[in-house]
Amino acid sequence: MAAQRSSGYSAAVALAAALLLAGGGRTAAQEAVGDVEALLRQKGCHACHAAKETLLGPSYEAIAVMHAPRRDVMTDVLAEKIIAGGAGNWGVAPMPVNARVSIGEARVMAAWILDQAGP
Ligand code: HEC
Repeated sequence: MAAQRSSGYSAAVALAAALLLAGGGRTAAQEAVGDVEALLRQKGCHACHAAKETLLGPSYEAIAVMHAPRRDVMTDVLAEKIIAGGAGNWGVAPMPVNARVSIGEARVMAAWILDQAGP
């Protein structure tokens, strides 16, 4: 489990870093985190999600806590749900289709969200 978890995370960081090769200067990890937050903003996720407060959708922290027991498979599951939208896990409001998100972007965002469970 632990090995799968860390390799999934590394893959996401590597992907995010690869998207950012032109960035230069900071470390790959810093680039990855900075980039994911910018990506979430750019894709409009912040309209319905915040770090710790519930908006129309659940907070990133709540999502990470809920899915922590199945962290290893959830990067892929959440990535697909980010693109396709869906309902039923959190309440009555559905998440709409996010058609402007690629599967690679969705996996990077899902991995980042799953890391927001906090200390
Ligand atoms: C119009 C509002 C809205 C937008 C925009 C939105 N979401 Fe959501 N999101 C929701 C709602 C509502 C839920 C809860 C769905 C449910 O109950 O299963 C949700 C759930 C989620 C979940 C958890 C799914 C689960 O099954 O636990 C993730 C991860 C997520 N959103 C990521 C994103 C990302 C990344 C973006 C941007 C590409 C985004 N959302 C854009 C409303 C939104």
